[in-house]
Amino acid sequence: MVKICCIGAGYVGGPTMAVIALKCPSVEVVVVDLNQKRIDAWNSDTLPIYEPGLDDVVKQCRGKNLFFSTKVDESVMEADIVFVSVNTPTKTTGLGAGKAADLTYWESAARMIARVSKSSKIVVEKSTVPVKTAEAIEKILTHNNKSEIQFQILSNPEFLAEGTAIEDLFHPDRVLIGGRETPEGQKAVQALKDVYAQWVPEDKILTTNLWSAELSKLAANAFLAQRISSVNAMSALCEATGANVAQVSYAVGKDSRIGPKFLNGSVGFGGSCFQKDILNLVYICECNGLPEVAEYWKQVIKINDYQKSRFVNRVVASMFNTVSKKKIAILGFAFKKDTGDTRETPAIDVCQGLLGDNADLSIYDPQVTEDQIKMDLTSKKFDWDHPLHLRPMSDTTTLEKVRVVKDAYEAAKDSHGVCILTEWDEFKTLDYQKIYEGMQKPAFIFDGRNVVDANKLREIGFIVYSIGKPLDAWLNDMPAVA
Ligand code: UDX
Ligand code: ADP
Repeated sequence: MVKICCIGAGYVGGPTMAVIALKCPSVEVVVVDLNQKRIDAWNSDTLPIYEPGLDDVVKQCRGKNLFFSTKVDESVMEADIVFVSVNTPTKTTGLGAGKAADLTYWESAARMIARVSKSSKIVVEKSTVPVKTAEAIEKILTHNNKSEIQFQILSNPEFLAEGTAIEDLFHPDRVLIGGRETPEGQKAVQALKDVYAQWVPEDKILTTNLWSAELSKLAANAFLAQRISSVNAMSALCEATGANVAQVSYAVGKDSRIGPKFLNGSVGFGGSCFQKDILNLVYICECNGLPEVAEYWKQVIKINDYQKSRFVNRVVASMFNTVSKKKIAILGFAFKKDTGDTRETPAIDVCQGLLGDNADLSIYDPQVTEDQIKMDLTSKKFDWDHPLHLRPMSDTTTLEKVRVVKDAYEAAKDSHGVCILTEWDEFKTLDYQKIYEGMQKPAFIFDGRNVVDANKLREIGFIVYSIGKPLDAWLNDMPAVA
């Protein structure tokens, strides 16, 4: 029986290992984490992450060939293959601050693997890391090991997207495995390939050298984020000219060379990967003497920041240039629908922007807890990827103006404006007539995800702003300066 251990029971490690356990009954999978609370949750009926289909997969395998544990050393020692899926925050101080990946957690995991191992192992990079991390990890492993033990390091980046993680893992577009081009390296690649081949067609399992696999992950995320920034840049031009971004995206996406996916204009992209990976890419380019390439990718993030502040400016400008002491309802806080994840969610920047103009916020999200929202609104940039006890104390004064409520109607009651920041399906079918009646007038809706039928809402009496769509006369008369 092959034994797999995964270090890090997060959004990547948890679902990926659950699916490996389900699809490979002859493999024993142990997911370990230092965080006792997280492991307890994985062993309970309320998993620590919300992901459609995940409960079912975990229920089928947990206790059979899938285990969650805090016995990190012991589980690593017994494993043949060790996946490393720990957090890789952006550095906040020192060399490369604000850009480079902080590999502290990675390095300590590698040192631990070297310390506890009594037999040869394949070590698999699963979390996204800068190019050449494998080489650094290899050095730590080989300089600290006992002579008879061999470590082979592989890069096997994860391409799942949250909200569709289980489906993405069941039917991946591709599985990428990078390894050393030596006989031992290729043997390790084959061993990992054998695991995936139990459910993924062979032609979808790509093998490359280590650096190509590492860079492909950064490149894929940069390309995806770039599409969103491109369409969001267009959305600003659409608003200025009277074009409709949905129509433009549709027409553009019909070109088979471009394709229809990932062209939805929005208040901005979020999530734990896009910004972090692009910053990483930028830093790598700078370190390799490629400032023009670095500048090119930086622009993807700049447009994303611009899109978020443009949205805030639109809200403030349309309400006579002030939201001070006005109640604003925030519908949706997660970075996308079908997840409770708030990492880098555009809602944080939008809420902070509105709080900066002294608004009173009433926030509702179907999956995000009040504690999480409050922590996010008071945390510093990039601190989210560190364990709680390592984060600096935050200033909680802004929270006096924040209320987190249990449903959309309560959030909207007596408000001047409603901002939709996540595309949850339930926001499409709300009783907007009822919402309108309970609001201050004029009543505004700012749809940051283009989920509502703007014309229907206008018939009710709302003034409606939809990203990248032709503006109401009211909004045209109140131009927002970005
Ligand atoms: C992303 C990659 O898709 C995935 O392959 C990688 O493994 C991790 O990063 P994820 O961050 O989970 O996955 O979600 P994704 O679906 O890519 O969405 C990212 C952000 O872009 C969200 O905030 C989403 O709302 C936004 N988005 C997406 C748009 O604004 N417009 C679109 O057309 C698509
Ligand atoms: P991702 O979204 O990439 O899965 P997460 O931050 O959700 O990232 O998960 C990373 C997990 O790795 C965290 O739960 C953290 O406690 C865990 N972790 C970090 N370092 C170690 C380590 N040395 N040993 C065990 N677990 C670790």
